[in-house]
Amino acid sequence: MTDDNVVLVGVDGSPESLAAVDWAVARAECQGWRVHILCAYSLPSFTTASLDGGYAALDDSAIRSGAQAVIDEAVERVKKSGVAVTSSLETGDPAGVLVDLSEEEVARIRRIAEESCCNFRYFADGTSIGISLDETTEVSDLATLFYIFTEAKKPDTEIDVPEIPGEWLPMDEKVRREDDFMQQEVFSLYHTETELMRYCTRLGRRDLSLADSMISLGSCTMKLNPAASLFILSNARFSCIHPYAPAEQVEGYLEMIDCLGKMLCTITGFDDISFMPNSGAAGEYAGLRTIREYFIDHGQEDRKVILLPESAHGTNPASTSLAGLEPVIVRSTESGVIDVEDFRTKAEENKDRLAGTMITYPSTYGIFEVHIRELLKIVHDRGGLVYMDGANMNGQCGWTNPGFIGADVCHLNLHKTFAIPHGGGGPGEGCICMTSKLAPYKPSHPLMHGEDRIPVSSAPFGSAGILGITYAYIRMMGAKGLKAATAGAILNSNYLSARLQEDYGVLYRGETGFVGHECIVECRNFGAVGITDLDIAKRLMDYNYHAPTLSFPVHGTLMVEPTESESLKELDRFVEVMKRIRADIQEIMDGKADQEDNVLKNAPHPLYEVATDEWSHPYTREKAAFDLPYLHDWKHWVNVARVNDGYGDRNLVCCYIPAGELISNENAMKEEK
Ligand SMILES: Cc1ncc(COP(=O)(O)O)c(C=O)c1O
Repeated sequence: MTDDNVVLVGVDGSPESLAAVDWAVARAECQGWRVHILCAYSLPSFTTASLDGGYAALDDSAIRSGAQAVIDEAVERVKKSGVAVTSSLETGDPAGVLVDLSEEEVARIRRIAEESCCNFRYFADGTSIGISLDETTEVSDLATLFYIFTEAKKPDTEIDVPEIPGEWLPMDEKVRREDDFMQQEVFSLYHTETELMRYCTRLGRRDLSLADSMISLGSCTMKLNPAASLFILSNARFSCIHPYAPAEQVEGYLEMIDCLGKMLCTITGFDDISFMPNSGAAGEYAGLRTIREYFIDHGQEDRKVILLPESAHGTNPASTSLAGLEPVIVRSTESGVIDVEDFRTKAEENKDRLAGTMITYPSTYGIFEVHIRELLKIVHDRGGLVYMDGANMNGQCGWTNPGFIGADVCHLNLHKTFAIPHGGGGPGEGCICMTSKLAPYKPSHPLMHGEDRIPVSSAPFGSAGILGITYAYIRMMGAKGLKAATAGAILNSNYLSARLQEDYGVLYRGETGFVGHECIVECRNFGAVGITDLDIAKRLMDYNYHAPTLSFPVHGTLMVEPTESESLKELDRFVEVMKRIRADIQEIMDGKADQEDNVLKNAPHPLYEVATDEWSHPYTREKAAFDLPYLHDWKHWVNVARVNDGYGDRNLVCCYIPAGELISNENAMKEEK
């Protein structure tokens, strides 16, 4: 799903998959309705956005006449107070009004506005003010606006606030939107709050979340997001702060961010922090830009080469290129660690142009690089700097840290290690921490450090609204708790790797024989009977399990990251399921089960298949859906049978074409061919 409101969905064209497309379309349209919130607050705002879109659908004229009518009315009112106004029509800003004043007037307006609990945008020229309004602006807000300007213009006269119309005036025809929007059926289906609530609940029930069972997505750290740390989201004093609110109005909020920054610096062993990046990948970009700026400032612009191990997360090479640097890939050994000799050779070959290295620790192969200190020394000795990808900080927190190891800058995925809920594209917070040497080059917002720094997002503290979650999490865990969490994560992962070793095999164990906080489960040994990692992932759904990370970072494997949140009971249940699946694979290998028509190839099994009058498979319905006793107690039914993933990957579907129309177009095209 991208910010352009384009959803790419792959389906096999069956009626069931059309239902899946409809569902995805509905969600995307709900989500797309407030794209500007999505970048920073995607997940928490998702529900709000859906409801917002849904409510608006009850009377879409409210949206049609919303923002622009308010702005027109505001322009009129401010003009009446004798102030020169350039409306949004003239400035081209779709939701703004610009007023030109003298410096004294600006100062007076600012004082009165702040007394009236109102903030405007005060431009650097000192004589203009920007006002942003939208369809949520109330009649009473306009009264306040008028009061502020009238009061500022005529301080000695009595205020005569004119009567405000109950309804907005008709909008200017020039800006009237002609085309239809929110045409997806879902926006006109529900006309009461009850219906809307049931619709949203129904959507929620289709999801399999951490509230249901372990989501062992490797490289994703799907840990518990404690309810207590999420409270802050519903506190308007934290969640409704405008990113540019004057500092003196939000002292507590800034204190919390400052305190969080200090705690994260302690955790990473660094001196300074920038909260600007909105995601891990944005953090990588920001950190590499910091390194780049450092070299430019030190007259070493040619230092552009970044050594990247082949185990690197896919975002690493992408961020390197985006930051104007050049990735050079370093081999890994058979045990999965970085090949020190290859690393040394490539560092030496590029020593005059070496900007540094980017190393993930523990690595994306799920293991600790035992030679990490040596690798860092190789780079430092040749004048380079070290970026540590700290997305896997759940394997370090409290035991070691990037600063202690000797790195110069790192990013953290607060939405992984530090309990911010994530998935579905957000919300992200990929703050970067760095040494004091690099601090002067960190990205920053013009409002904080003037124009000479590079901003990497449009808000000074990135996804500031969700920082409180991490703050609460760290405060509640304390130093001991964080340390225990890391130990639990590594222990759980090693427990799973030991228990799955015999049936599947674990790909990498580094040089110590142990894995880190995640492990890669081998699934390439069943090719002779056509069973792949994909079939195992699909079959897991029949047991109420979300698939682990599929075919990443190594094709044909499953990467499992249990995190510290899972109990021994849950781990044992997962192992039992994996063993069960392995036994079913063995039956196929032994010729006791059919190679095509078997529980793995047909998985997952939705209710509509299991409950049908026709059942032609050689195994029972019970085997398909209730293979273990706990499933009788609680069963999560998937909504659709297996979709053709390969087809989906190769055929992009734009969600704004109704699915039915799309499929018939496609069929027509096929016929034409
Ligand atoms: C090692 C590593 N680096 C970087 C990232 C990128 O983070 P994000 O998805 O927030 O951009 C991830 C994502 O999980 C990761 O596992």
